[in-house]
Amino acid sequence: MNSSGTHFHPITTEDGSLSLYSEEYGQAMHTVSGAYEEALFKHVRASGVLNLDRREIHVLDVGFGIGYNVLALMEEFCRNPMGRTLEIVTLEKDPAPAVLLNGIGFDGDRGMLYEKIKRIPETGLLMEKAGSVLLLPGDARASVRKLRASRFHAIFHDPYSPAKNPELWSVDFFRELYRTADAGCVLTTYSGALQVRSGLMEAGFTVGKAPSLGRKREGTLAAKGPLAEPLGADELARLRREPKATPYRDETLAGARGEILERRRSEMAARRNG
Ligand SMILES: C[S@@+](CC[C@H](N)C(=O)[O-])C[C@H]1O[C@@H](n2cnc3c(N)ncnc32)[C@H](O)[C@@H]1O
Repeated sequence: MNSSGTHFHPITTEDGSLSLYSEEYGQAMHTVSGAYEEALFKHVRASGVLNLDRREIHVLDVGFGIGYNVLALMEEFCRNPMGRTLEIVTLEKDPAPAVLLNGIGFDGDRGMLYEKIKRIPETGLLMEKAGSVLLLPGDARASVRKLRASRFHAIFHDPYSPAKNPELWSVDFFRELYRTADAGCVLTTYSGALQVRSGLMEAGFTVGKAPSLGRKREGTLAAKGPLAEPLGADELARLRREPKATPYRDETLAGARGEILERRRSEMAARRNG
């Protein structure tokens, strides 16, 4: 706990937007090169979801955090709804306290929309003319099991890093995401780690690279179905060859962080020796 009585403290990123640093995870919620830009480019635009010609667009957001992915998605959508509605489901086990969220703001229309999004952790729901946001509190591994199959047209996968938050990067959690994805759904993530890509593939996704932003390395796009630019033969061979491509496993979807990390370490060692 720090002086705000929480394990978070605010940091300013290079596009001027604030992020929160979590002392529990030893990590900020966003890239320092631009928190809001990360939401917009790595998730909203990379997913292509707002180009869909459907009456209702359904998006799953894994890790509400301070709600920037939700903000960027709603703001972009509201610019050109074209008679469609947007339904967002967001999963979060540890919402940032209101005292910190109250210190974050934007100018103009974005600021007005964010004032409403900031209240979602308290109310659980935001209903707007153009669509809605529903927050499912608790461990995403339990929440995801309550979601019906083939529902989402995009999934924004945005936990902390795999090494710090492995419970949301396991093959088993990805299988659940795959189950909730509609045909053609695109999952976006900032991680390009080998174990993430191999885990997504084992869960059924087609995997490709996502554009990089700032100092962060390229991320990953994963689709339920074909992707315009899937990984090439060399990259696939690397995933088969390298022990580091050993994915996280969590069959019960309730394993402790340390157990999940240890299991991967021993599988990697076996792969090196075998
Ligand atoms: C990098 S932050 C997300 C940033 C967020 N997408 C935004 O736009 O502000 C990761 C979030 O995942 C949440 N998280 C981590 N593990 C979780 C779990 N097992 N279940 C639900 N949420 C989890 C954390 O509490 C944190 O808020």
